[in-house]
Formats: sequence, structure tokens, C-alpha cells
Amino acid sequence: HGSYNQKIDYVFKIVLIGDSAVGKSQLLARFSRDEFNVDSKATIGVEFQTKTLDIDHKTVKAQVWDTAGQERYRAVTSAYYRGALGALLVYDITKRESFDHMARWLSELREHAGDSIVVMLIGNKSDLGSLRAVSTEDAKEFAQSQNVFFMETSALEATNVEPAFVSVLTEIY
Ligand code: GTP
Ligand code: MG
Repeated sequence: HGSYNQKIDYVFKIVLIGDSAVGKSQLLARFSRDEFNVDSKATIGVEFQTKTLDIDHKTVKAQVWDTAGQERYRAVTSAYYRGALGALLVYDITKRESFDHMARWLSELREHAGDSIVVMLIGNKSDLGSLRAVSTEDAKEFAQSQNVFFMETSALEATNVEPAFVSVLTEIY
């Protein structure tokens, strides 16, 4: 159907969080515009993109917020999380440290967004399998222990990107 005069049934805010350079902005570019930029610049402040899609015969507008992984470039934390119904908690499968920081990101998220937010742990850059530093098993175990969903994605190859967002939106709905 056309994109103007479209009746929106729901608007769901989703936030992206995780260390710098894990691929948050490129996951968003892939999801919202089906684009990928190899020379992606670090995000400064907050950006957001929307995408309208059908979930269970309803028109859902996903409003996805993206901020800097780097502390000094981050926006006001409470405003970023306010009203968020879903979150993608992103690490880079080739960077152990980015996975080790997931617990910290998750506690900040829960503190600001509440316990009922739908959370998906994302191991991004699955195209770089030969450089893998975090096993799928470790990530699954962590996700289970924290009661969050889990998927590995590649923004570069467009693997699992739409399914990751759609799962979160479906779970919110
Ligand atoms: P900050 O804005 O600083 O928090 O970083 P970010 O998490 O938004 O990372 P960004 O999306 O800018 O990506 C960082 C780098 O990783 C860029 O060079 C991207 O091209 C690259 N990248 C992102 N996703 C993937 C992926 O799925 N595979 C590969 N191989 N590279 C990726
Ligand atoms: Mg970014």
C-alpha cells in the first residue's frame, strides 16, 4: 500500500545501545533504508529513523533511536530511554570487550526504561566469522540468564536485520 494517507495503528519507540563501532548506526541504515556505509562515522548526539511496516495486519511505525557508544558524544540518557518499548543491545562478535560490556548496558537500560521493555541481544558482524571472539553459545547463555532475546546479524550482508527488528516489534505488539 501507499505510504501517504496511511493509517498508523501504533508508534513504537526502539532504542539502540552498545559500545562504539559495534554497528548500531549501520543496523539502522540497513533496516530503515536498506543501505550500508563502510566509512560510517561515529554518531554524535542522537539520530532517529522511522520505518512503517505491517505486523499482524496492523500498521506499525517503528521509531528507532540511535546514539553514540562513546560516552563523550552521548546525549542525555534519561531522554534517550524515555518511552522506549524495545531495545537492541548490540555487540560486535569480533570484539570480546563489547560483549563483556553488555551487562553494564543492560543495567543502564533497565534502570531508565523499566523492566517491561522488550530486549534483544544482537551479535553483529556475523560476516566476520573468521575473526570471531564471542561464541554463539556464550551469547545464548548470557541472553537466557538475562531473560532477553538473541540473534546474530550482519548489517553488511543484510543477514537477520529485518527479522531482529520485527521480532522486537512483534513482541511489543
Ligand atoms: P558509534 O556511533 O560510535 O556508537 O558506533 P556504531 O555502533 O554506530 O557503529 P557504526 O554503525 O558506525 O559501524 C562501525 C564500523 O563497523 C563501520 O566501519 C561499519 O562499516 C562497520 N560495520 C557495521 N556493521 C557491520 C557488519 O555487519 N559487518 C562488518 N564487517 N562491518 C560492519
Ligand atoms: Mg553510530
